[in-house]
Amino acid sequence: MVKAIAIDGPSASGKSTVSKGVAAELGFIYVDSGALYRGVTWQAIRKGVDAKDSAEVIDCMLNAEWDFFVQDGAAVFSIDGDVPVQELRGKDVRESVADVASIPEVRKFVVESLQSLENFGSLVMEGRDIGTVVFPDSPYKFYLDADPEERAMRRYRELVAAGEDEKAHEVMESLKKRDKIDSTRKTDPLVVAPGAQVIDSTSMTLEEVVQTVVDAVKG
Ligand code: ADP
Ligand code: CDP
Repeated sequence: MVKAIAIDGPSASGKSTVSKGVAAELGFIYVDSGALYRGVTWQAIRKGVDAKDSAEVIDCMLNAEWDFFVQDGAAVFSIDGDVPVQELRGKDVRESVADVASIPEVRKFVVESLQSLENFGSLVMEGRDIGTVVFPDSPYKFYLDADPEERAMRRYRELVAAGEDEKAHEVMESLKKRDKIDSTRKTDPLVVAPGAQVIDSTSMTLEEVVQTVVDAVKG
């Protein structure tokens, strides 16, 4: 049985959309690992903790009650009884999540939580370190990429469609800043996992990317 298909890559490379498509096609459980880093960040913000204060963030994370379950084919979590969804996408979380995700204790907590999800069944898990750290033995590893300009435009269009008041150049700057933090941090930086298939989606449709992954898994 396949434990986990690992899909890594930078922001707005298509990981979430492609992973959901692959999970639906194969009947696997979809897992958004970034949501957990966002969850830790959101919990800190709502408790009034400064996201740059590592000790406080760790304390806040460990003192919260976390529960994991599967809903509509996806792994979901609650924090102190609340299930944040839209809250995780807000600007405040987006601006601080890469700093929070650079804290080694936060990464340890999230990685262990993610690994425990294999008890639910076969997973399609997307993130930054799934093929390198969370499931390094997976035979199915993919690294999605796309040009930064294309990724920033995708994210911008998505935010505008969601009714957010955003400026294209600010989205571009925020994405570049997060790319830099994610790829240069000391603990588990974003790199292509050994053995991963790199897919550049700059000029591919979503359907083409999903099919490329599904075909590789089905052999
Ligand atoms: P990530 O999870 O890597 O941040 P998403 O899956 O959220 O990326 O994709 C960001 C946006 O880009 C979404 O609105 C999605 O529909 C769009 N998108 C993703 N892949 C493609 C693609 N190959 N072609 C066009 N749009 C895409
Ligand atoms: O959707 P997007 O790619 O913009 O972000 P995300 O997948 O929700 O991840 C948000 C942030 O969490 C990233 O910028 C990383 O800092 C961190 N993250 C990580 O460090 N490792 C992962 N496996 C997933 C996310």
